[in-house]
Amino acid sequence: MHYNSKVKHIAIFASGTGSNARKIIDYFEGHPQIRVAVVVSNRPDALVLDMAGSKGIQTLVINRDYFYNSEQLLTDFGQYPIDLVVLAGFLWLAPPYLVKAYRGKIVNIHPALLPKYGGKGMYGSRVHEAVKAAGDTASGITIHHVNEHYDEGDIILQVSCAIGSEDTPATIAGKVQQLEHQYFAPVIESLLIG
Ligand code: GRF
Repeated sequence: MHYNSKVKHIAIFASGTGSNARKIIDYFEGHPQIRVAVVVSNRPDALVLDMAGSKGIQTLVINRDYFYNSEQLLTDFGQYPIDLVVLAGFLWLAPPYLVKAYRGKIVNIHPALLPKYGGKGMYGSRVHEAVKAAGDTASGITIHHVNEHYDEGDIILQVSCAIGSEDTPATIAGKVQQLEHQYFAPVIESLLIG
């Protein structure tokens, strides 16, 4: 892939179904100023890797040893000018060397209104089950900077949706996912080009 210094480059990390990662790739396809340079996953079978590969985006499969016991990622990223690291459903905690190298340039999306329902182990359906169990009348999304702790970096944007007594964890998940798909890519765009 040819790298143009006037273009901003994104690295996306995803470990789940990758629906957010796929939305982001679609959003920036053909964008004049922003390009997804690489998609990183800890799961070799992640569907988003196939999608990225089919669009000519670099892919990188990592394991724990590579991620936590080496800083090889920085060397591997050195070949791309990465302007923003986007965690889109990436479940592993970012190691200190990565946070330090990209301080202020790593963002995450969380499927609840932090600081509620955040922290280690709070992901996927567990979040929406907790919201339902608490009887909350709203949930939503939080897009935030990443520091060394799970879900604790500065908040960039929160968007909420109403939750009624008829909602189930599954319907809450659907509402929240809709917000994720609507807001994450435009927020990334505005972080990169204002
Ligand atoms: C999203 O709910 C996101 O908020 C959280 O992980 C989930 C990833 O979903 N961090 P997907 O893999 O993008 O579909």
